[in-house]
Amino acid sequence: MRAIIPVAGFGTRLKPHTYSLPKVLLNVGGKPILGHILQKLVEENIFKATFITGYLGDKVVEYVHSEYPQIKADFVEQDEMLGLGHAIYTAIPTFDDDELFIILGDTVFDVDLREVFKQTSSSIGVKKVKDPSRFGVAVMKNGTISKLIEKPETPVSKLALVGLYYIRNTKLLKEALTELIAKEIKTKDEFQLTDALQLMINKGEKVTTFPVEGWYDCGKAETLLETNKFLLEKNHFEFKSENVVVIPPVYVAKTATVENSVIGPYVTVSEDAVVKESIIKNSIINPGAYIEKSMLENSIIGNNALIKGNYKKLNAGDSSEIEFQ
Ligand code: UTP
Repeated sequence: MRAIIPVAGFGTRLKPHTYSLPKVLLNVGGKPILGHILQKLVEENIFKATFITGYLGDKVVEYVHSEYPQIKADFVEQDEMLGLGHAIYTAIPTFDDDELFIILGDTVFDVDLREVFKQTSSSIGVKKVKDPSRFGVAVMKNGTISKLIEKPETPVSKLALVGLYYIRNTKLLKEALTELIAKEIKTKDEFQLTDALQLMINKGEKVTTFPVEGWYDCGKAETLLETNKFLLEKNHFEFKSENVVVIPPVYVAKTATVENSVIGPYVTVSEDAVVKESIIKNSIINPGAYIEKSMLENSIIGNNALIKGNYKKLNAGDSSEIEFQ
């Protein structure tokens, strides 16, 4: 089995954090998004992976080599962001005859992969969502997918494709991707993986679905914070320190410093970050950030950022009403 992980994108929706880091290296629940994916792969004994890099790709290469040396990693560069279909097409030279497991680089998932890999046909991870209009969706017939539609304008199905694809017929995927590019088949102006998979279905390939209840998107600030919350609830990290009130769950890296503060719930404090005399809840503090005398909620603080507040000096008279916004 080979994992294919596209990580080339600009991560526009997560600016300003993605000015200096690719989206997949942003910290969530104690490690980079990509780290959660790679840990899952290693647990499932998948040690071959192709990374499709682009924007700030060197940082991805460095991270994978230093943190996951046990993975035999190939890196291919997507020089233009032409869509997911194009990204996977770029990776074709690294395909072997083995099955593929394609995972979007910004998707944290909690699925029993052993069950998925037992399937005898290709299978796509789906989740029922209220508003499928921003996803690709699967239309089912007799237990298999009859049609895949990217960002449907009419409500044909609520089964959204959440970014996990188990492909057994690698040769046919290669053919379909090659056809997609050669015939310039685009939807919403991009080469879509969904359209390549539809070509496979058109050629008679049986493709089924598997349910993904545990799907945690990291594409924008709000979903990144929700995913942080989920991961902290799941992992029960221990943190205790004198003069710090901890409202669990929280994650504090070994090299971080937290003093005279109240942190939690749902706070990640990454490596070498410093938090002093502050109150922080539902936030991610990235490596090297320095926070002093501040109250933060629902915040993402970038690497090495400096946030310094000030306590107020007040001489408030009887019956006065003061509200700080
Ligand atoms: P997204 O569209 O969510 O990621 O693609 P993005 O483009 O980085 O984010 P925004 O929209 O600008 O905020 C999902 C995954 O597919 C990869 C992305 O890197 C991300 O991991 N991708 C997408 C590619 O590698 N190449 C592409 O052409 C498109």
